[in-house]
Parts: sequence; C-alpha cells; structure tokens
Amino acid sequence: MSSTSMRTHQCGELRVEHIGQTVALAGWVGRRREHGERLAFVDIRDHTGITQCVVDNDVDVRSEYVVRITGVVRARPEGTVNPGLPTGEVEVGECAVEVLRTAVAPPFPIDARADDVDENLRLQHRYLDLRRERMQKNLRIRAAVNAATRKAMERQDFVEVETPMLVPSTPEGAREFLVPSRKEPGSFYALPQSPQLFKQLLMVGGVDRYYQIARCLRDEDLRADRQYEFMQLDMEMSFVNQDDVLDAVGEAVLDSAEAVSGERPLPIERITWHDAMNRFGIDKPDLRFGMELVDLTDAFGSTEFKAFAGAVSIKGIRVAGKAADFGRNQLDKLTDKAKSIGAKGLVWIKVTAEGLDSPVAKFLSESEQAEITSRLEAQAGDLLLIVADEWMTACEVLGTLRNDLGRPPVHEGPLRFVWVVEFPLFIGVDKESGRPKPGHHPFTTPHPDDVDKMISDPMSVRSIAYDLVLNGWELGSGSIRIHEPELQKKVFAVLGITDEQADRKFGFFLNPFKYGAPPHGGFGLGLDRLVAILAGEENIREVIAFPKTQSGADPMTNSPVEGDPKQLAELGLRVLPRVD
Ligand code: AMO
Ligand code: AMP
Repeated sequence: MSSTSMRTHQCGELRVEHIGQTVALAGWVGRRREHGERLAFVDIRDHTGITQCVVDNDVDVRSEYVVRITGVVRARPEGTVNPGLPTGEVEVGECAVEVLRTAVAPPFPIDARADDVDENLRLQHRYLDLRRERMQKNLRIRAAVNAATRKAMERQDFVEVETPMLVPSTPEGAREFLVPSRKEPGSFYALPQSPQLFKQLLMVGGVDRYYQIARCLRDEDLRADRQYEFMQLDMEMSFVNQDDVLDAVGEAVLDSAEAVSGERPLPIERITWHDAMNRFGIDKPDLRFGMELVDLTDAFGSTEFKAFAGAVSIKGIRVAGKAADFGRNQLDKLTDKAKSIGAKGLVWIKVTAEGLDSPVAKFLSESEQAEITSRLEAQAGDLLLIVADEWMTACEVLGTLRNDLGRPPVHEGPLRFVWVVEFPLFIGVDKESGRPKPGHHPFTTPHPDDVDKMISDPMSVRSIAYDLVLNGWELGSGSIRIHEPELQKKVFAVLGITDEQADRKFGFFLNPFKYGAPPHGGFGLGLDRLVAILAGEENIREVIAFPKTQSGADPMTNSPVEGDPKQLAELGLRVLPRVD
C-alpha cells in the first residue's frame, strides 16, 4: 500500500484514470520551471518517479525541499504530454503546497547527470545519491534477490542459522581483519572471511541443511567486483553429492534471476575446468560470445617456424571481421599484452582474399597455412591470433585476448550461467614454501579417481570443487568436503601442514569430526556480484548502499580514522610508524 496518513498516492503512480481525483503527494522537489508570470511547474519526486505539479509562482520551493502537495489530477494540455514519463499524460493542478522541510542546494543534481560526477562526491553524500532512480532501482533489485534466495532455500528445507562475527582465522586465502581483545591484550579475533568452519560444524551438529545470507569480510585490494565487506548466500548440506548441491544452489539463483528479469534463464549447463581452460582460456568463461580457442598443435608437427617448433601447445582464436581495425600500433599492443601475461610472443595473421598476411607467413608452409585457415574457419577480413607455449600459458594468454576483444558490456544479455566442475585440487605453488597451494580450501575432497596421485603428481589431482559463473564473473564456489581424518591428513601433507600445525590452527574444527561427521558439501555465492549483473552494473559498489571507495575509505563517515589514544591503551595497542 502506497498511501499513508500524509499522502494518497506515490509520485510515480498517477495516470489518466486518476483524472478528476483530489490527491496528496509527498516527496522532494525536483526541477522547477517558470510558466508565464503567475505559474510554475514543479516536479515532485519519490522513489517511484515524478509528477508535474502546477503551482503559483510565488510559492517558495526549491530543489530538494521536502513537500506535501495536494491538488486535482488533470490531463496535460495537448502538445505538452511527455511520453518519456510514466506520469507524462497528467499533472496536478489547483495545488496547495506544504513545505515539510527546506533544504540547502545539493552538491550534485539528483538525476542521471550525477553518473558523471566524481565518485568520491557521490559517496560523500551517498544519502543524496541514493535518492536517484538508478540507485533506488539497484537497492530494490538487491532486496528482490535476497527475498527470492531466502524463499528458495526455505522451500528446500534449509534452516537459517547465524554464525559469529568474532572468530578465529578462516582459511579462505585472503588477508583478515583483526579485532583486538580488551580482556586479553595481545590476542585477537578475526572477522569471518566466510562462515566456512562454522557451517561445517553445523553439519557435525546435525543441522542437515543450513543457509545464511552472511556478511563476509576480507582485507583485499578492492576492485570492481571486490569490497572489504560483501554478502554471500552461504549454504551447506549433509548426505549429499555434488549434484544435490548444484541443484539446490541453482534453484536459488534461477529464482533470483527470474524475480528480477521476469524470465527464467535456461537450466545451468556444466563444463569441466579443463574444458573451460581449453576452450575459453579461463576458469570463468563468458559464454555470451564465441571466439573459442582452437587447437592447432598437431598441424605444426614438422614445422620450420622456430617459434612453433616443438611447442607443447599451439592455439589460436579468430577475431571475426576485425583485421581492418588493427593497425601496426594496435597489433604491437596486443603482442605486448600477450607477453605481459607470460607469452613468448604472438603471431597475428590478417586473412585476405589472396591468402594470409602476416610477418611470419613466409615461415609457414602451404599446408600449415591451409590448416590454420580451415581449423579457425577463417574468412577474408578476419584477424587470427596464435600462441605457442605450455598448454596453460597458451590457454591463459588467448583467454585474456578473447575477453579483451570480444566481451560484451555487463548490461548486455542473455544471462549465461555455467557450472565449472572438477577444479584442480591444487593450483599454483606457494612462492615461499615451494608447496602446492589449495585450489579452493584445504577441506576440499580430492576426486576419488585421482587420490592415488596425491603424492606422486599432486598438480594433476582433480577435486570435487565447483564454481558458478555468470557472463564471465565468478559468482560463487563450493566443494564436497573431506570428512575422513586420514584423507585430510594426506591433503595437509601435500600442503606442508604438519599434524601439530593442523592441530593448532584447525584443531577446534577438525577434532569435532572425530565424533561422527556426516558426508557434506556446500557453496558460497557472492550476492553483490549476482545483483550487479542483474542490475547491469559494472561495479558492485553501485549495488551496495554504503560501499567503500577503491582505496577502502568511506568519504561519508570519514572512516577509517586514527585510533583514540585512550581506546588504544585499553586494548594494549601502540601504533608504530608506518613501514611501506
Ligand atoms: P570463495 O572464497 O570462493 O568461497 O567466495 C565465494 C564468493 O564470494 C564472493 N566474493 C566476494 N564478493 C565481493 N567482494 C569480495 N572481496 C569477495 N570475495 C569473494 C565471490 C566468490 O565467488 N567458504 C567458501 C564457499 C564454500 O566452499 O562453501 C568461500 O567463501 O562471488
Ligand atoms: P622471433 O622468432 O622471436 O623473432 O618471433 C617471430 C614472431 O613469432 C614474432 O612475431 C613473435 O611475436 C612470434 N612468436 C615468438 N614466439 C612465439 C610463441 N611462443 N607463440 C606465438 N608467437 C610467437
């Protein structure tokens, strides 16, 4: 119900059918335009839209005054209808204006023009920024996603449980925020990177199906898809395999997308991590466009071209119809980009009606040129890019170029969800220790077919870990967890975590497993990212009411602030000069 004791309608509500009714609207004054000597048009605005009111010229209302306007709805005179405005066929006349609150002039216009204002200024006055249509829409999309998510989880018999904010370290791999203990100076809590440890203990505790719309905190460098604080749909289930988890999360995600867009996306497809890398060169493939990586390795088995001879993997992409757009300068830039990701070089070829135009064409035999053309389905006008390297490097380099050259902007549909499954158990090597690093977290179950390779060839071991990806964004991650202590020990051994270290760090978590841990698995879904994509926003800041800037500050509250000496003393803390 929109009417309250102060108003009969909201500012975006009036239509032709209301003509003749006496109405009361309440909101903020938007634009004011003088109309002749006696009258003025005043737009009154709330989160639902704006209505034009015709008031006496001597009424003193200015931008952002809070007003209540009573009057009679009437048709706008012919020629003055505004088809761009939902209320554009009517206006309110015979107005009585009551000023509820005056306002000083706002530092930026409360409309789309503020999109171009310095972001610091927007965030400094976020309460004004929030009055705008774009932000109101985003907050409501966010609320709709939360509501749909909650409903889907409840329907599937998940139980909402809250987990603590003052916790020990959580092994999610990011830096943590520490909270000093006053009672035990020198001791600290951490803020949770996720409820991971607690949700697994809830499974030991027999909860069976847990969910929470959980606040997570990570002290990482902020980017378009990262904030210090963010929200996860966090869930965990007992007596399940991977399919059960994917189905349950899929319901919540598709329900959310449907709640916002009005259309249910197609069922979520699956791709293995290996195929994602091989075909798209990235573990979060954007399936909205093609330009897939094509394998060319065996076409160069006996090549004379030095850069390709003996390469483990040779892959190429076809940038359709773009040859003419790339002059020497741009091609050099592409090559530099490829090198910055680890490529030794980049072969570019322009396809012309006469054949292949490239500085290296002379090194390629006729049959090699024919293979390139046919495998990449090349046509005149195309630009072809080829990299020879280790498999992973060739994939990553072309995956990056593919995204750079082909990826549509966020707001362009359709929604292409995909599950990426069978992630490697270990990805990369820790620089300090030389040990493999966990791909997900150290409690992830190795793929049963690969367990015996854990010591001999750890980097080839797959896991039962999966990511949900939407239009090239990683939306969430999860895994089936290890619930047998022996297997956990094996994984710790590869990671170089000793029994004693494991006991000190994770003892509180692993000891309870001795009392009977059910097989279990779960997922953490980044809600800010899901909302951003559904809202067509490039940066999650736009879908968070009070976000931090890229440098981690809040210009509205001026935080972070220096510690108060008295407070610091109480906590047993002394601030040392900064070392960079
Ligand atoms: P993970 O660390 O992959 O998994 O996080 C899951 C999802 O949370 C979102 N996310 C973020 N969103 C905004 N800002 C950030 N700084 C940020 N960091 C992460 C992403 C990411 O995919 N406990 C495990 C899940 C599990 O295994 O059940 C976890 O947190 O969308
Ligand atoms: P070079 O033999 O190093 O002078 O390289 C000849 C051409 O091949 C240059 O255009 C390089 O960018 C390219 N090139 C060199 N190494 C590779 C590689 N591993 N993959 C793709 N292109 C390469």
